Amino acid sequence: MKKKQTVFSGVQPTGVLHIGNYLGAIRQFVDLQYTNESVFCVVDHHAITVPQVPEEFHENTLKVAMLYIACGIDPKESIVFIQSHSTEHTELAWILNTMTPLGELERMTQFKEKTEGRTKKEGVLAGILNYPTLMAADILLYQTDIVPVGEDQVQHIEFTRMLAEKFNSRYGRTFSVPEAYVQRDTARIMGLDDASKKMSKSAPSSNNYIGLLDSPNEIRQKIAAAATDSGKEVQYNKIKKPAISNLIEIYSAFAESPHSEIEKIYKDKNYYEFKNDLAELLIKKLAPIQEKYKELTKNKKQVLEILYGGSRKSRIISQTTLSQVKEKMGYVI
Ligand code: TYM
Repeated sequence: MKKKQTVFSGVQPTGVLHIGNYLGAIRQFVDLQYTNESVFCVVDHHAITVPQVPEEFHENTLKVAMLYIACGIDPKESIVFIQSHSTEHTELAWILNTMTPLGELERMTQFKEKTEGRTKKEGVLAGILNYPTLMAADILLYQTDIVPVGEDQVQHIEFTRMLAEKFNSRYGRTFSVPEAYVQRDTARIMGLDDASKKMSKSAPSSNNYIGLLDSPNEIRQKIAAAATDSGKEVQYNKIKKPAISNLIEIYSAFAESPHSEIEKIYKDKNYYEFKNDLAELLIKKLAPIQEKYKELTKNKKQVLEILYGGSRKSRIISQTTLSQVKEKMGYVI
């Protein structure tokens, strides 16, 4: 069967990959790869928009690649590679920067959050501002139709669409105009310690998230410590019970069972019993990912071969798009 559309997405090698990244994005990558041409990238150039310790950065880049595969991305079905191995990304990002109004970059929520409370003189780095242009280049190089992401990235996909349309109208149709693919229930998994903020790799406390590689005891301890709401009923109500609703969403996504079913099971039970079961469910569901990951760490050479092969395949596509872009703009090629 011919695969239908092109899917592209990426994950930054910063901090610890958590169940928010998995439910909001990576699980969709796995599902989409069988029916679509799929390209998944470890976006290392994006990670350096905040200072990185070289050894950790190196480790984390390989870790994301191994977790992609451990979570079920099959290198026979998908192209998997490291962004910096395909230099077309930074080249197209530069070109797109020259067409991007500064105001569009300054109004991005992520830029505002990361620079909040700091004056420009205090050292806001230009990379944080230009981050979305590199992301647009990632996506547009592959003539992408669908970008599976969590809710926090939707604004960046809108920005990418704006740039694609602008280029196409100035130079003639060159880029596909991509759409965000967002899973309604898991688009924004909230922090375990504070249900008013999203679960985040860079959260100050590790009690904010369940890492994909957390041990059974860490999972039990973190779920036991997770914030709950007043009352004792396990009920899904995002306004009155945001913390329990977040835990129900996580349970529901891993158990592949609707919220109503979970409410029914826990109708006469308390938070304690619900949390215990949730912890055991997470331990069970993460075990195969952790096992596969452990195997891959013993065979880093094979992982690197997959990544180099992925980069070669990705460049066949990205070089074609970049040549078209440069030709249309009048570059001597
Ligand atoms: P990153 O590395 O922060 O996150 C990776 C993916 O996980 C999703 N995500 C979440 N989903 C649900 N609940 C959460 N709490 C949660 N936290 C994170 C993110 O939405 C994302 O889909 N800019 C991107 C990386 C990137 C990219 C791209 C993505 C660079 N180029 C091109 C798509 C296409 C980022 O920082 O994701």
